[in-house]
Amino acid sequence: MPIPMADRMHRLPKQFFANLVARIEAKVRAGHDVINLGQGNPDLPTPPHIVEALRAAVLDPRTHRYSPFTGLPALKEAVAAFYEREYGVQVDPTQEVAILFGGKAGLVELSEVFLNPGDAALVPDPGYPDYWSGIALAGAEMIPYRLEAGRGFLPDLARVPEADWQRAKLIFVNYPNNPTGAVADLSFYEELAAYARRHGVWVVHDFAYAAIAFDGFRPPSFLQVSGAKELGVEIYTLSKTYNMAGWRVAFAVGHPDIIAGINLIQDHYYVSLFPAVQLAACAALLGPQDCVRELAAVYQARRDAFVGALAAHGLACPPQPGSFFTWMPVPPGFSSSAMFADFLLDHADVGVAPGIGFGRGGEGYVRVGLLAPEARLVEAAERIAKAVQSRR
Ligand SMILES: Cc1ncc(COP(=O)(O)O)c(C=O)c1O
Repeated sequence: MPIPMADRMHRLPKQFFANLVARIEAKVRAGHDVINLGQGNPDLPTPPHIVEALRAAVLDPRTHRYSPFTGLPALKEAVAAFYEREYGVQVDPTQEVAILFGGKAGLVELSEVFLNPGDAALVPDPGYPDYWSGIALAGAEMIPYRLEAGRGFLPDLARVPEADWQRAKLIFVNYPNNPTGAVADLSFYEELAAYARRHGVWVVHDFAYAAIAFDGFRPPSFLQVSGAKELGVEIYTLSKTYNMAGWRVAFAVGHPDIIAGINLIQDHYYVSLFPAVQLAACAALLGPQDCVRELAAVYQARRDAFVGALAAHGLACPPQPGSFFTWMPVPPGFSSSAMFADFLLDHADVGVAPGIGFGRGGEGYVRVGLLAPEARLVEAAERIAKAVQSRR
């Protein structure tokens, strides 16, 4: 007897990259030495003091019980202390913080909780595909807005049609940006806040790469804009800042109504995170932060090595200021980002993500994850250059 899924499941966007991942895995199984830079999975370990905090917490039987439904007060207080220390932003831990099972879950939940069928949400193009998933589950509509190469992959908010501002209920924004590696400064968020306020659109700022920016730039928080907490939320994950992608811990900070909505749906889905993970997250947020600065320096050195090796072979790839992605223009002679990505896998044993997988605005680029040791990235750049040259 076939068992069909509910209609809403059929609305989910296709997992564009599943095919690429399968092809890479098949090549590896066939014995190829593939350098896989196609995904966004941090390759370095969680700093030891955080692992130790987890070990100690697991040994305490009190962590074996259910967590309070909305998470441990200690973690919400740690989040508030973290925002005050890092951004000078004051947050009420009881009303303005929600604990999440990773940013991805929070981003999907937001749309489920706040969008009705027929509502619309503005999403960056190119952008992180998980924004699309929640919008689809809610039966709402996506309105892509362009990140413009000529503006450092920031959108021109004035060029988003007035009708789209009128129609949209919320806007997803993400800097430092996946996939382009762009960053935004406070003046951008001020302009965004003004548009949001004027149109009654609320803001979801996905701050997943908050700690990863280069050449001395320190990404500001959207919440540093005066009155921003009235306008939306920021989603912060520990996945990238502390190499904790497998631990599944993140949080939302901002408007109390949004926090209440997230907490409400989570009451129905889960009983918050394993308390030991929450205690380890406190250690991450409140403990020494040199590991974070060192991590950003590692990614900067990798970026420079990769881009430098491409340039040495005549391939243009401007160094991007943030995130652990390099956004490489498809060289002349290749008709699409998908064709170039396939070509690199077939002829260079290098996996990259075609820009089209992030939306139409991603065409013309491939995303390269700087998630391998420097020597491996240089080797990838050399293999790419050799394959491209052999085709000319
Ligand atoms: C832009 C962006 N937002 C959010 C996430 C979610 O991260 P996590 O679910 O690990 O917190 C990612 C992860 O790759 C990301 O790239």
